[in-house]
Amino acid sequence: MSLKKNILALREKKAMVQKGGGDAAIEKQIAMGKMTARERIVALLDPESFHEYDLFVQHEERNFGMDKKELAGDGVITGTGTIYGAPVCVYAQDFTVMGGSLGLKHARKITKIMDLALKLKVPCIGINDSGGARIQEGIGALAGYGEIFYRNTLASGVIPQISVILGPCAGGAVYSPALTDFVFVVENISKMFITGPNVIETVLGEKISQEALGGARVHAEITGNAHFYAESEKECFEQIKKLVSFLPWNNSQKAEAITPVAPTFKKNIEDIIPADPKQPYDVRDVIKVLVDKSDFFEVQELFAPNIVIGFGRMDGETVGFVANQPLYLAGVLDCDSSDKASRFIRYCDSFNIPIVTLEDMPGYLPGVDQEHDGVIRHGAKMLYAYSEATVPKMTVILRKAYGGGYIAMNSRHLGADFVFAWPSAEIAVMGPEGAANIIFRKEIMEAADQDAMRQEKVQEYIDKFANPYVAASKGYIDAVIEPSETRSLLLHALQVSQEKEDYRPAKKHGIPPF
Ligand code: HXC
Repeated sequence: MSLKKNILALREKKAMVQKGGGDAAIEKQIAMGKMTARERIVALLDPESFHEYDLFVQHEERNFGMDKKELAGDGVITGTGTIYGAPVCVYAQDFTVMGGSLGLKHARKITKIMDLALKLKVPCIGINDSGGARIQEGIGALAGYGEIFYRNTLASGVIPQISVILGPCAGGAVYSPALTDFVFVVENISKMFITGPNVIETVLGEKISQEALGGARVHAEITGNAHFYAESEKECFEQIKKLVSFLPWNNSQKAEAITPVAPTFKKNIEDIIPADPKQPYDVRDVIKVLVDKSDFFEVQELFAPNIVIGFGRMDGETVGFVANQPLYLAGVLDCDSSDKASRFIRYCDSFNIPIVTLEDMPGYLPGVDQEHDGVIRHGAKMLYAYSEATVPKMTVILRKAYGGGYIAMNSRHLGADFVFAWPSAEIAVMGPEGAANIIFRKEIMEAADQDAMRQEKVQEYIDKFANPYVAASKGYIDAVIEPSETRSLLLHALQVSQEKEDYRPAKKHGIPPF
């Protein structure tokens, strides 16, 4: 055959495989409101940047009629491309090919692109749309998932790993994402569960919808498995691109800085915190006053909203923010908020992203529920994450810094590099009412007018401890500052911390309170 004919034959062969599971399956996919796997890759990457590999890989399963089945690309598309010019490795499972189920060769395509990402030291993005382990392949499919999980773990903290859930994802198709850094979900499209409804019906005789088992909002709000929630696939891809723009390619670099733009949020920083210390406010307003262009990219916005985490830029450089949110539960620390924040702190530390902590919380949430849910174990993650982190760490105490929460929120004692406090800061073992009731119990009980005596003692405690000056007198705070100075002081602290080095004892790895 002449080269020309060979080229034509190649084009035909490629076009055949690129049709995935065929017209009927594609129509079904579109009818479900889903993009095809190929459309998704195009929507995610820079125009014309995608290059595909392993298009002609085939499964080798011979049982259960599989010997008669050819599966386009074995149900997964893999390749390289760019996002805003940054290189990425990507894979997208094709639900039109046997429900995107994962057999051994399908898995090996994924592990090959993961290995490439690790060697090239670039982010790896997985678009998951899969019924999990291909039932016909049995152990081969399980082996494939094991090999993916192993690589997810090896790559953790070395390259950014991003997962997108764009269909009903079961079993391994959710466990691999759970091992990655960020999980994206889309309303009505994303479903995540360990065991699919078909299997549940067969084994338990229970009929249950995919949505009820685990839809996008369930995982964005309740389980915390998802970090970003979108209304549409298009919005989801824009979110991924934005996230990638905040991250370095790998853990030996810093995220690329962009031209700084002054904050645009017009609120006066001094007017954000209400005069009454019991009144809530939105801590995101404080962040917006501090970050370039007032552009704050929140992570896990819907889960454990009593703590806010996310990325912003200061003087063009990526910074991670951890902030108590007085709008919810007074910004208290509990099991979920501790999990949420500590994982984010470890993420920032792995990828050389300085952390700014904004503090206003009454401590850890007391009560039987929290104790039995393991607030000791979960809360300890915060202590571990901040103590372990060696990136530049700054804290601004805005208002309440009580008890264990004071220590946990990146205090000087856990290795903070800079601790600033606004004059409204109250640093104490607990709130004035609780403290006065305990330490002056006898005087209050014996007083003729108990309420008057209680008020007097509360005021005495406020005057003594509910201010930043006691902590400042001991050097636990570096400066009591005016709110309007916060941005310039943080910019300065970041600037002088560029070459920060902080040593830790040599070890294989620590044992965090997982
Ligand atoms: C083989 C599968 C499959 C699977 C779906 N298909 N899942 N084939 N192995 N795991 C096939 C279907 O047979 C069907 O083929 C096509 O994909 C589309 O599936 P439907 O059921 O028609 O689609 P839908 O109604 O949308 O339901 C999707 C689903 C459901 C929720 C994913 O198919 C389901 O419950 N599948 C089983 C999920 C599961 O429990 N998997 C095992 C996970 S265990 P046809 O030819 O009819 O179009 C696992 C082990 C790893 O992953 C564990 C790691 C720790």
